[in-house]
Amino acid sequence: MTRDKVTVRTLRRMKERGEKITMLTAYDVSTARAVDDAGLDVVLVGDSLGMVVLGYPTTLPVTMDEMAHHARAVARGISRALLVVDLPFMSYQVSREDALRNAGRLLKEDGAEAVKLEGGREVAGTVEALVAAGIPVMGHLGLTPQAFHQMGGYRVQARSAEEADRLLKDAAALERAGIFALVLEGIPAEVARRVSQALSVPTIGIGAGPFCDGQVLVTHDMLGLQTDLSPKFVKRYMHARQLFVEAMRQFRDEVRSGAFPGPEHSYDLDPPTPQGAP
Ligand code: KIV
Repeated sequence: MTRDKVTVRTLRRMKERGEKITMLTAYDVSTARAVDDAGLDVVLVGDSLGMVVLGYPTTLPVTMDEMAHHARAVARGISRALLVVDLPFMSYQVSREDALRNAGRLLKEDGAEAVKLEGGREVAGTVEALVAAGIPVMGHLGLTPQAFHQMGGYRVQARSAEEADRLLKDAAALERAGIFALVLEGIPAEVARRVSQALSVPTIGIGAGPFCDGQVLVTHDMLGLQTDLSPKFVKRYMHARQLFVEAMRQFRDEVRSGAFPGPEHSYDLDPPTPQGAP
């Protein structure tokens, strides 16, 4: 792993060399520092922020102000990884002007180095306009959480031959429009393999099997901090929520028993000045 700054060009080279790309989400500076220290290639301020941190039932209520606020915090914690920030629901669908203004704001004011948006051929024109303005765009196809109501819930997509074909056409249109990478979420591994082979830009999978050029997970899921939902594709690398609760209970018990704070956690008065000292 190189310690050089990761750029959109690095990701393209990684695909060419067959090196897997790694991406995790972050929403605050401490997590951003940890993800960067761990040597991940891309940090995503996902609009999963809404569900994981802000307690919304879906990603739909997330606003530009919320994304910008968390993007700034994450940007302060990163030195190597590429920082990608999600464009939230309705910040790019209404008009290209909206998309340019909102994506431009994330790059100009909030430390984003690229934006991610959901959708296929219907957003290809918007992607082209953003790329023409110098804004790198990551696409997102398959299970697109902003289309929660349209999909009728979080369901695996592109299972039929017809849907798979549509997704391949969407991916090709996004590549032509200028995306530098494509997230594939919640689709059969075989469909992800076909898309990954067809595109020259890297694919980054989540619930899309092993054949993508890289993988992404929501950090709170892989750490076991968020345990309300347990989709099949999440691997828990630790059980952080359990560890947090155990540590918090220990603190509670030690305060109640008087074991905390001990002398090692307490401050002394200034030592008395020796007599006759100036
Ligand atoms: O919002 C998010 O965290 C995402 C990832 C799941 C790819 O879009």
